[in-house]
Amino acid sequence: MAKLSINGADSEVDASADMPLLWAIRDIAGLPGTKYGCGVGLCGACTVHVDGVAQRSCQLTVGEVEGAEITTIEGLHPEGDHRVQVAWRDLNVPQCGFCQAGQIMQAASLLAENPKPTDEEILEAMAGNVCRCGCYQRIVAAVRLAST
Ligand code: FES
Repeated sequence: MAKLSINGADSEVDASADMPLLWAIRDIAGLPGTKYGCGVGLCGACTVHVDGVAQRSCQLTVGEVEGAEITTIEGLHPEGDHRVQVAWRDLNVPQCGFCQAGQIMQAASLLAENPKPTDEEILEAMAGNVCRCGCYQRIVAAVRLAST
């Protein structure tokens, strides 16, 4: 058993310390918004916040995040109205949508740290989040919009 704090709720989960956090989030906590893309830290689909910072949940173990505050896309805003989510809707960013939770969590972390990023800073921060539909121009535009 491990103690995890996910989206503001503390819970004991039946997970071994070496289980990837991504599996604990999806299969044990029952939060499917965080996606499995590559499993090796290269695509960003599994991005969550750990103590407010974007991290790849496929590359963390449950044991490494015990005691930390984990936020998934389901917990980013109670009504789904985080300014990044609002900008995403306003600009119709997603195409297939698979990578979008990770993209939004990455963008929200960027803006929490740097509320007025330049386009270069947006591109740098989002570079590790792959979109197979190629929605990159709308992603950058939405991050820009959310920062205004
Ligand atoms: Fe974690 Fe791709 S699934 S980075």
